[in-house]
Formats: sequence, C-alpha cells, structure tokens
Amino acid sequence: MKSAALLTTLLALASVSLPAAADMKAGEKAAQSCLMCHGENGISTMPGTPSLAGQPEVYLASQLKQFRNGKRHNEVMNVIAKPLSDADIDNISAWFAQFEIELKKK
Ligand code: HEC
Repeated sequence: MKSAALLTTLLALASVSLPAAADMKAGEKAAQSCLMCHGENGISTMPGTPSLAGQPEVYLASQLKQFRNGKRHNEVMNVIAKPLSDADIDNISAWFAQFEIELKKK
C-alpha cells in the first residue's frame, strides 16, 4: 500500500514537471494580434520592432515572461504580455520559433 502511494506521488510529480507540448494551433491564433507590429509570420518591417520568426523558443518565452513581470521594460510589450498565461506564452513562442530562417548575403 505504501509503495503504491509513493508511486502515485511520483507519477503526479512527473506529470507536473514535464513540460506540456505546445499547442501550435492555439499559438497561431494568439500570435495574430502580434503580427501588426512584428510583421507577417513574425518578420518585422517596422523600425524598433524586432522580428520574432525563427528566434529560439526559450528566448521568446523568457522575454515574454520578463515583459509580463516588468523585468524587461517596454511600454507596449509590458501591456501586451500582462494578460498572457504561461500556456499562452509557450504556445506563441513555439509558433514563432517554428520558422526556419535562411541566411543569405545581400
Ligand atoms: C503595438 C506593437 C506591438 C504589438 C502588437 C506586439 N509587440 Fe512585441 N514588441 C514591440 C516592440 C516595439 C518591441 C521592442 C521592445 C524593446 O525595444 O525592448 C517588441 C518586442 C517583443 C519581443 C522581444 C523580442 C526580442 O528580440 O528580444 C517579444 C518576444 C515580443 N515583442 C513578442 C510579442 C508577442 C508575442 C506579441 C503578441 C501577443 C507582441 N509582441 C505584440 C511591439 C509590439
């Protein structure tokens, strides 16, 4: 009985600590509101606004969390990141990170 309880606890812990797979459909939907500034598919043409496409998922997620908690300051992004949940951030970051950027000399 004791070991069964332990096993249940371990399984519960494992399911909590394993990152959930990103929901790309939800990410695509949530990302639509970002594209007017960050550009179609996250390739920016707006001065002062970085491209998001192809940036590492962990980087995008960490920046969004820092905008959300105010550690990174930007008037616009602090407001935009505020209502995002961790799941929103993971999904949006995965969606922008899926694009492969090819380097070419001009
Ligand atoms: C009104 C315009 C606008 C909208 C809409 C917008 N952003 Fe931004 N975003 C900016 C600007 C401007 C910056 C540059 C901030 C800075 O200089 O620190 C930025 C920066 C970022 C960065 C940091 C990128 C880097 O290279 O460090 C991320 C990530 C980001 N935005 C994600 C998003 C997401 C996700 C959305 C939609 C939920 C979104 N943004 C919507 C204007 C916008």
